[in-house]
Amino acid sequence: MTLSDNIEVAAPKKWMDAWDKIYSQMLSATDEELARIDVGHRTQQLEHALAITGTNTNGLKILELGSGEGNVACYLARLGCRIVAVDALASAIAVAQRKARILNLSERVEFRLDDIDGWPIERESYDVVIAIQCLQYLFDRTVPRMREAMAAVKPGGFFVYSGNVLPHYATDPPIRFVTANELRKELKGWTLHAFGTEERIIKPNDLRGYVWAVARKPI
Ligand SMILES: C[S@@+](CC[C@H](N)C(=O)[O-])C[C@H]1O[C@@H](n2cnc3c(N)ncnc32)[C@H](O)[C@@H]1O
Repeated sequence: MTLSDNIEVAAPKKWMDAWDKIYSQMLSATDEELARIDVGHRTQQLEHALAITGTNTNGLKILELGSGEGNVACYLARLGCRIVAVDALASAIAVAQRKARILNLSERVEFRLDDIDGWPIERESYDVVIAIQCLQYLFDRTVPRMREAMAAVKPGGFFVYSGNVLPHYATDPPIRFVTANELRKELKGWTLHAFGTEERIIKPNDLRGYVWAVARKPI
């Protein structure tokens, strides 16, 4: 794999190039810097949900879509989970693989250079499916792919979702915001271990909205 092996995806090249630049810069980080794993509250809430439901994390089968630099996958691999993590950028996969190697986790994480869409996900085949800040870039395929991702969760397993909502600057093409109401509807019948919305100023004059859920499929 070379860094020019990027997969062509629905998101405009300009957006992918912007992420590529970030991951490519990370490739020159030291081992010590890359060994740091920072995960957000969605992952911490998943860990809490797994703990209070008495879920044994050893060997837990996880699919992560849009895995970026690999922090979430490595964090969960450290808990004993086995993860398939997918991203379309060769730079992201290279950073994530290096991170896993440094942390001695390569046996438990498979970082796959692929589109997060366009291939079948076997129904009820994963204990956890994670899609943090990525499905929205599939536009008209966002909700259908979300349903396929949810269908891939085993009964009693978990789906972790995070995406943007308004307020958000206008984009071309428009990001497919899955609103809080839509997300609740999609998750009807599931147990919501965490559900939230927030607004954050990312940089001056850039206020962004988020919605997320950690939900358990009925048994
Ligand atoms: C906003 S970043 C989020 C990364 C990570 N989930 C996180 O929260 O840090 C979006 C990621 O999705 C990936 N991505 C966007 N569209 C994709 C697609 N169709 N297939 C695979 N990866 C995609 C990008 O390469 C990028 O790594």
